[in-house]
Amino acid sequence: MNADDNRHAPAPAHAPAPAHAPAPAAADNRAPDEEPAMCFDRATLAYGDRVVWSELSMTVPQGEFLAVLGPNGSGKTSLLRALLGLTPLAGGALDVLGKPPRRGNPDIGYVPQHAGFDRDVPLRGRDLVGLGVNGHRWGFGRLSRADKMRVETALDDVQARRYADAPIGRLSGGEQQRLRIAQALVGNPRLLLCDEPLASLDMRYQQEITELIGDWSRQRRGTVVFVTHDVNPVLSYASRVVFVVDGRWAAGRTDDVLTTETMSGLYQAPVEVLRVKGRIVVVGEASGAGLDLDEPHHFPAPTGGHGAHVDRGGHA
Ligand SMILES: Nc1ncnc2c1ncn2[C@@H]1O[C@H](COP(=O)(O)OP(=O)(O)O)[C@@H](O)[C@H]1O
Ligand SMILES: [Mg+2]
Repeated sequence: MNADDNRHAPAPAHAPAPAHAPAPAAADNRAPDEEPAMCFDRATLAYGDRVVWSELSMTVPQGEFLAVLGPNGSGKTSLLRALLGLTPLAGGALDVLGKPPRRGNPDIGYVPQHAGFDRDVPLRGRDLVGLGVNGHRWGFGRLSRADKMRVETALDDVQARRYADAPIGRLSGGEQQRLRIAQALVGNPRLLLCDEPLASLDMRYQQEITELIGDWSRQRRGTVVFVTHDVNPVLSYASRVVFVVDGRWAAGRTDDVLTTETMSGLYQAPVEVLRVKGRIVVVGEASGAGLDLDEPHHFPAPTGGHGAHVDRGGHA
C-alpha cells in the first residue's frame, strides 16, 4: 500500500466501487493547500481473518467534528487505533494530517475508553494532566516550569483547578473525564480522539463534556473524532458521521448519513429515521443498536450541510 496515493486527491477515484456506493465526494470547502485531518482510501481493518470493516473511504477536513457511531463490536475503537498507528490496515490507505499514521504523534490527543479510576489510585488530577505533557516520566515534580504552566492552563481550560489536588479516584465521573480531556489537550494537539467519553455520565455531565470538546474544536479549529453510542448529545456539534454496522459503513455529513434511505441500506432492513423535537429517533431494526434512544436530550437539530455526498460501502 502506498499511503501517498490519495494525499492530494480530491476524492478516491478507483474502480470497482462498492455496488451501492454513489459517486465520490464533492470537494470540501477548505483551503486547497491544507491537508485533510484524515483521509481513508478503501481502508480495510482486520484482526487475522476477522475483517472488522472494509474499503472505507472518507475524507475529513480539519476543524470538523466527526461522530463515530455503530453497535458494540462494529470497529469504532479500531478506527481510532488505526488513526493512532496502533493497528495497521489490512488494505487500502490512510493519511492523518497528511502523513501515514504513526505511534506517539504529538499532533493527536487521545481520550481512551474508560471505566473509572480505582478509588485508591495514588494520583491527583494535576499529576494525570502532567502525564500528558511528558507521558513517559512519572510525576508532576519533574516537569519544567513551562510545562507546569501548560498543566495549569489545561486545568483552567476544563475548569478543573478546584479539584486538581484531590485523589482522582474520589472524583465524580464527570470530573475525572474533564481531567482526562485536559491530559489529552495539554500537548496542544490538532486532532482529538475521544472513545465513548459520555459513557456512564449522567445527562448534565454528558452535555458539559460535549460542550467542552465541541468548543475546543470551534475555538482552535481542532478536529474531533468522537465515538458515541447516541448521536443525540453531539448533534449540535457533529458536522460529520461515520456509521459502521457489520462491516458496512456510511460516511458523510450528518444530515446526509442519518436518513431513512442511508440507514436502511446500512442495516439492510427497513429503518425509519425521524426528527422529533430536535432529536433523532430511529424506528426499526436499528433502534437501540448504535443510536441509543433511551434518554431525552435537548439539543437543536444540526443546520446546513445539505446536498453533500454520502459514501457508502463495505462488504455485504
Ligand atoms: N486486538 C484484537 N484482536 C482481535 N480482535 C479484536 C481486537 N480488538 C478488537 N477486536 C475485535 O474487533 C471487533 C471490533 O472491535 P472494536 O473496535 O473494539 O469495536 P467497538 O469499539 O465498535 O465496540 C470486535 O469483534 C472485537 O472483538
Ligand atoms: Mg469501543
